[in-house]
Amino acid sequence: MEKRSILSYETVSLDDAKSALVIIDQTKLPYETVISELTTQKQIWDAIYRLEVRGAPAIGIAGAMGVYLAAKEINTEDYKEFCEQFKKAKEYLDSSRPTAVNLSWALNRMESIVLNNKTATVAEIKKLLHDEAVEIKAEDVWVCKTIGEYGVTLIKDGDGVLTHCNAGQLATAKYGTATAPMYLAHEKGYKIKVYADETRPLLQGARLTSYELHSAGIDVTLNCDSASSTILKNGWVQAVFVGCDRVAANGDTANKVGTANLAICAKYYNVPVYICAPTSTIDMNCKNGKDIHIEERPSEEITEMWYTNRMAPDGVKTFNPAFDVTDNQCIAGIITEYGIAYPPFEESLKEIFVKKNNTKK
Ligand code: MRU
Repeated sequence: MEKRSILSYETVSLDDAKSALVIIDQTKLPYETVISELTTQKQIWDAIYRLEVRGAPAIGIAGAMGVYLAAKEINTEDYKEFCEQFKKAKEYLDSSRPTAVNLSWALNRMESIVLNNKTATVAEIKKLLHDEAVEIKAEDVWVCKTIGEYGVTLIKDGDGVLTHCNAGQLATAKYGTATAPMYLAHEKGYKIKVYADETRPLLQGARLTSYELHSAGIDVTLNCDSASSTILKNGWVQAVFVGCDRVAANGDTANKVGTANLAICAKYYNVPVYICAPTSTIDMNCKNGKDIHIEERPSEEITEMWYTNRMAPDGVKTFNPAFDVTDNQCIAGIITEYGIAYPPFEESLKEIFVKKNNTKK
């Protein structure tokens, strides 16, 4: 039997009958395809923390579906009591990962359903929460596709592009953000060549991005993060496309650690860096990158997690930030579902939100 393509699986979905959040466990990829059905809040929190479900948009969707499942279990008809228990569940899930703003964005969106429907019955609110979680996922499909449509205008037939981490389908509901322009370019018949940084220490580039793109039949080459300067210097890529976890109002961008090194290098070699950013990842309340909380993760991820034998001495000190902030000066453009923002980003990002708000009316 032919092996099922990784792209045919849902990254995250809701099983109403089983009251479960269903995810593809990304820590096991590419060697094993494990589908997990998560029914308790602790299981959902752990899956987000351990990166079984990961990528800013995907954890937003998981958070929204997770808090709906929590709400479904709240056993009261009293609105005030329901609100209190809902808030606790929301805060619990929100504490699983701090940097990607999509998680709190999605949870706040879910909370506003509760707060804006004071006169509804608890049963009605539960139904509205269900529909909102499903809608957040559906919107993400459109958002990624539209980012792809804007992004592909920056790619020419024969181009090489470089990416870091996984901002692919596995990080979203479909298409990915940074990979969406690549999938569209491939669909158009462009002969593109993608370089995927392996992405130390959790290897999202090796395990996920190269797996996704290879499965789609895209010409992908996996490289160690430290090889990217050679790729840029040799002129093998004409652009860098990456995702993001939080973009500040001035365009400073938090993304997987190593993105800033890559962007500094790309600027040196005059290769444009494009950030693929759903507006749900842009946090206009953060003035600049200094306001972004960077998650630090356990030492084991560097010292032993991916090796048969430990690769560092016992007790050695480690520094393991999950993300870094790329200064806006190193960014050529921010591709959103409402168009491409160019420097100065203080102005252009505001215009993106004006366009978004006008479109909604
Ligand atoms: O720690 P991760 O794997 O969740 O980090 C993911 C990234 O840094 C992605 O680039 C980002 O979330 C964008 S996903 C479309």
